[in-house]
Amino acid sequence: KTLIHKHSTGSTQIIGHQLAVEGTPHGTVVVADVQTEGKGRFDRKWHSSNNKGIWMSIVLRPNLLPNQAPQITLLAATVIADVIKSKTGLSPNIKWPNDVLINNKKVSGILTEMQAEQDRIQYMVLGIGININQSVETLANDIKASATSLRIESTIEWNIRDLIQETLAHFEQAYDSFIDEGFSPIKSKWESYAYMIGQSVRIKTFKKETTAQLIGIKEDGALIIKNEDGSHESLYSAEIQW
Ligand code: BTN
Repeated sequence: KTLIHKHSTGSTQIIGHQLAVEGTPHGTVVVADVQTEGKGRFDRKWHSSNNKGIWMSIVLRPNLLPNQAPQITLLAATVIADVIKSKTGLSPNIKWPNDVLINNKKVSGILTEMQAEQDRIQYMVLGIGININQSVETLANDIKASATSLRIESTIEWNIRDLIQETLAHFEQAYDSFIDEGFSPIKSKWESYAYMIGQSVRIKTFKKETTAQLIGIKEDGALIIKNEDGSHESLYSAEIQW
């Protein structure tokens, strides 16, 4: 499998898209020590300082329908939670759809971008960011209140290269079993890490902002909520407020 290592780049997502358009095979990985224009969801900036975390993108060519793409993102979040748990002994949670938290603070985020045609996924670029060796002092100011790193939580400096290898190996194995066995095992795994299930939270969608209870996820990866009037609803795109 191809792994491209950049010292510095704007965003590994952009390189992932370029390679995908040029026909790079399934499983191509781009990793950078530092990103100058790291991208988060909802057009946010993703702080990606030099050698402080994992900033990588994986090009995937799943033979799936576009509406199955969220399952792959949830799979990636469970892989990251598994790796953090097994390597560091910390107890991560996943905030739907795919923020990985430790002690209520975000340690990892996933950005999935896809190109679909005629109801098939042409390719996906799965971007993974994990904060690893930032200290409280070196964590960017605007995220200090809501973000953390493995080092802050464990007081240990981690070997980033080793964690990249671990994440990729685990991802490959989880991806293969997803293709063979479907989403059910991942759904259970995801739910075992789920954050605030059963609790009332503020949820923002394109249409509205409401208070609702988090119930779980559906077989297709949608979030199930219970509105204040008692009705159940499935959300495909929404943000749970902090
Ligand atoms: C989020 O939680 O908003 C998603 C963050 C995704 C960050 C990763 S870092 C590697 C890849 N390249 C980017 O520019 N973004 C993703």
